[in-house]
Order: sequence, then C-alpha cells, then structure tokens
Amino acid sequence: MTQIRGFVRASRRPGDLGVHSVDHFNLTVPDLKQAEAFYGAFGLDLRPEGQGLGLYTRGHPHRWGTIAEGPKKKLTYMSFGAFEDDFPQFRARLQEHGIAQLDPPRGFESNGLWFRDPDGILLEIRVAEKSSPSEKSPVSNDPMTSGTQRAPARSAAGITRPRRLAHILVFVSDVGRAIEFYSRVIGLRLSDRSGDGVAFMHGVHGSDHHMVAMAKSNAPGLHHLSWDVGSVHEVGLGAMQMADRGFSAGWGLGRHVLGSNYFHYVRDPWGSYSEYSSDIDYIPANFDWDAGDHPGDDAFYVWGPVPPQDFTFNYEAA
Ligand SMILES: [Fe+2]
Repeated sequence: MTQIRGFVRASRRPGDLGVHSVDHFNLTVPDLKQAEAFYGAFGLDLRPEGQGLGLYTRGHPHRWGTIAEGPKKKLTYMSFGAFEDDFPQFRARLQEHGIAQLDPPRGFESNGLWFRDPDGILLEIRVAEKSSPSEKSPVSNDPMTSGTQRAPARSAAGITRPRRLAHILVFVSDVGRAIEFYSRVIGLRLSDRSGDGVAFMHGVHGSDHHMVAMAKSNAPGLHHLSWDVGSVHEVGLGAMQMADRGFSAGWGLGRHVLGSNYFHYVRDPWGSYSEYSSDIDYIPANFDWDAGDHPGDDAFYVWGPVPPQDFTFNYEAA
C-alpha cells in the first residue's frame, strides 16, 4: 500500500528558535555500487542525481540523503531544516557567537548557513519544509482477531520499506560540549543522556525523542542512520531481507530504553550501521521533556542480544 505521507501540517513552538528537522545528510563512499546494493536491499529508493545518488523512501517526496563518491567513507555534512522567518535569526546567532560562516562545499551550492561544530562536523541550516514528524508516527499491529492465522507465509511477507529518516547518531570527542553547542546554536534540546557517553537531542517544534544523537569517541564520524518502519514485524522482516542479501552482521532485535524504540541495526559495508526503528517516543512541540541522566548499563537496551564487541567502534576515524 502506497501512501503519500509528506504533507502533514508542520507543528511549531512559538517564540523558540530552533531547527525543526534533520533535512538531509551527505555521505561519501569509495564505491557507489556498494552503497546502491546496501541501501537498495535495506528498502530505500536510490535515484541517480548529478555524480551521485539521492536516497528516498517509497511514497514520500522528501530526499533524506545524498551519496557521493570519495576516497573513503565519511559523513560529509548534516543539513538542518528551519522555518523561513527564523532564518535571519540563525544568521545573527552565528555572528553573535563568533561562529565562522563557510562557503558550501563544492557541488553543494545552496543558500543555507554553513559552519562547523566543535569537532569539525560540517553543518548547514537551510530553509526547508518540516520533514520531521509533527505527531507520533503510527505503529501497526496485527489485528486482534481469533480463529484466524495472522502471520503471512514467508513467501507472502513482502519486504520492509522505511517510511522516513528517523535520526542520525554521530561520534563526537566531547559529549557535554556537543550538547552545549547543539542547544545554543542549532536550538535542539537534550532529551536524555548517559553521562559523558551518549546524548539524545530533539527538536523544539515537535520531533521524535531524538533527531540527532552523539556518542563519545576520539574523533568525529557516523555511527548510524536510523530509519522509521511501521511495526516490530517490519523491523524483524527487514533484518531477514538484509541477511538474505548477505548483510547479516548487526545487532538486534532489541528495545532501547532511551527513546523506547524497537531496533535492528544492520552493519553497512564501511563499519557503520543503518537502523530499522519502530515506535520511538515522541516529544510534542508544546511539551517540556524532562531530560534525565541515566546509568549506561541500565539505559542502553531493555532486552536484546548482547551487542557486537565493536558496536561503538569508530571505523570512520580508524
Ligand atoms: Fe538509533
């Protein structure tokens, strides 16, 4: 069933300056064919655009990411979407804080504000439609019927196609400093953290529990891209479809504590991950979420297999 899901009225919290969405990201990878095979198997739609690929989800008009060829796999930048009338204030804020405004990278010309976070991660704020959800994304469960088989035959199960980009988790060298910067400059808010190990941040204009998360490493890098799917069934089905195509390494099925989402992470060809995520907590625009600091061993996951030993290893920096 195909639905157009892109046109939901944007929610907004008046009087608060903050980005409303992760608009898109750009990755470079050494071999575009490898990216096409991986993200295609994952259930995303890839379209040739310029020298690279655009990443889309079926039935949604938004372009969530672009992939270009480069010497090694790298998260080139994250682009945040802002409301048009907020844009001049973001420009003023960068000036006020003495943050150098940069030219866009070659081939990515746009009218956005380009600058770097304290770890050197390239960021953009641009005027864009709100692509983050303005209400909790629906979750479908099997109907509550008796006397019938509710699971499909394996041959009839179909494949998982994510509905949208959910969040991006990046490595940073100092989680506390990143929280401070992304709050003060981008206008994100802390949802929850585990000491100096990991932090989860949401948008003030209504977003999932996290649209960006940061994990401690010795250098910047991409840990995972997370994609929203419609049910736990689809999370499991996605894991199977990836294993069938040779992408069996990863972690899941499990349930996180912070965000409450069900997950399965599939390791990509470059040592980072794409996550199937379902049923994540939602923080409405008019709600002040009570940010907590949670012991890591009690807050990482409620249940699931033991994570791979190198799950939090930063291969991008290696
Ligand atoms: Fe995640």
